[in-house]
Amino acid sequence: MTNLPQDRTGRAISLSEVSDDNWRAVADVAPHDEQRRFVAALGARYLLLSMRGGLWHSLAIQADGAVVGHVMWAHDSDDGTHWIGGMLIDAVEQGKGVGRAALQATIRLLSGLPGAREIRLSYHPNNTAAARLYTEAGFRPTGDTEDDEIVVARAVDTTPAAARG
Ligand SMILES: CC(C)(COP(=O)(O)OP(=O)(O)OC[C@H]1O[C@@H](n2cnc3c(N)ncnc32)[C@H](O)[C@@H]1OP(=O)(O)O)[C@@H](O)C(=O)NCCC(=O)NCCS
Repeated sequence: MTNLPQDRTGRAISLSEVSDDNWRAVADVAPHDEQRRFVAALGARYLLLSMRGGLWHSLAIQADGAVVGHVMWAHDSDDGTHWIGGMLIDAVEQGKGVGRAALQATIRLLSGLPGAREIRLSYHPNNTAAARLYTEAGFRPTGDTEDDEIVVARAVDTTPAAARG
């Protein structure tokens, strides 16, 4: 069985498909009010983007099976990179290590996909929490920008644990 990453309270952090059972909880995921200048006000916005856009794939972030956040990923068929977006931890669940564990789980997931080589994402330069989280996880600026956001990248994880997903 795959070792799941844990948050600081020892809860197992996992990613699951959005389903008939959990979509309402994912839609209700909400950041702190002051974070709305960086991200959508609700997980619902990202869920709709996934459903309507045909590019992004939304996942529920769970702590011991309960929905605590949203993340989505995409494959850029032009250059073969994989992208992470819409990382949103519910306000009451922030600061407990969920974001770090969920990022680790997402990197593992993408690293196990056929042909995966580089993972990219973007964040607003004033989003210090995101900047620290992603820099600690090895993401470095590519020099590109997306709208007003910095694009960063890292190689996929090639350790055997990552390959097992
Ligand atoms: C960014 C976000 C996903 C982090 O999730 P989290 O569960 O709160 O983060 P964690 O508790 O796992 O913390 C991991 C690291 O992130 C950084 N971090 C998290 N919150 C931070 C804060 N308020 N200020 C500075 N750094 C912070 C720290 O480096 C932290 O490590 P440390 O605790 O050892 O210092 C969360 O704050 C969030 O959902 N923000 C709103 C949405 C957003 O900005 N998403 C990213 C868009 S690109």
